[in-house]
Amino acid sequence: MDRHAQRSTENAAAFDWAHDDVFGRIASRYDLLCDLFSLGIHRLWKRRVARRIAEERWTRLLDGATGTGDIILRLVAHESTADRQIVASDVSAGMLGIAQRRLGSNADRVRLECLDAERMPSVADGSVDAYSISLALKICNRTQVLNEAFRVLAPGGRLIVLEASNIPWKPLQATYLAYMSACMPLLGWIATGGDASAYRYLLHGIREFPTAEGLAEELSAHGFVDVAFERQSLGIVAIHTARKPRTA
Ligand SMILES: C[S@@+](CC[C@H](N)C(=O)[O-])C[C@H]1O[C@@H](n2cnc3c(N)ncnc32)[C@H](O)[C@@H]1O
Repeated sequence: MDRHAQRSTENAAAFDWAHDDVFGRIASRYDLLCDLFSLGIHRLWKRRVARRIAEERWTRLLDGATGTGDIILRLVAHESTADRQIVASDVSAGMLGIAQRRLGSNADRVRLECLDAERMPSVADGSVDAYSISLALKICNRTQVLNEAFRVLAPGGRLIVLEASNIPWKPLQATYLAYMSACMPLLGWIATGGDASAYRYLLHGIREFPTAEGLAEELSAHGFVDVAFERQSLGIVAIHTARKPRTA
């Protein structure tokens, strides 16, 4: 299968950061746009994810596709991470720049790195105890990201994924998708001064991403065990957790 064909089946948003630095272009407005599209509810989801990460047993965390650092900011602001090492990574230097600025006095508690979550040769096998990725799996090649997460996790290491999901009651899911289809491109276009491309990708990703049950099956197929998920906001998003087996 050629690279393009593979992307279209495994990357729900059909997004390729190497061809479009859209997140670099919207970095300074990304946080405002998150508030607009979710009516601020993304803050609750992210607080929940940060709490889930904090509750896990780990000393080395890698947060993939960290964006402007929404997850790690919550982690370091409310949790004691004194004995923990946190690496937050993204492909967009623009997004990492905002994350660095937002960390402020907590900057020395987090190492920011430019990494492609689909291919991280600089991260050694089994070198982290927890790997998290939020609201980005739908715009990446899932197979590659999950393979890399599995590889870099130590045996017994934890995976935490926040991602768009499905509302099980179909009429409500259809209404939600209609709202997003109407609002996202328009609000995105207005808020970015005419560059709505990020929101076309995200909308496509939301539509094409597997259901919560489907993603759980994919995680198991990748070799993860103890796969579980909890829906948030009726199922608009879900938080999946899983573990790399302790023994091969
Ligand atoms: C929708 S934002 C999510 C950011 C953040 N995790 C959050 O929850 O707000 C998606 C992020 O994924 C990053 N991204 C896209 N493809 C990536 C890849 N292959 N590897 C690493 N980061 C990627 C983008 O640069 C962007 O910062």
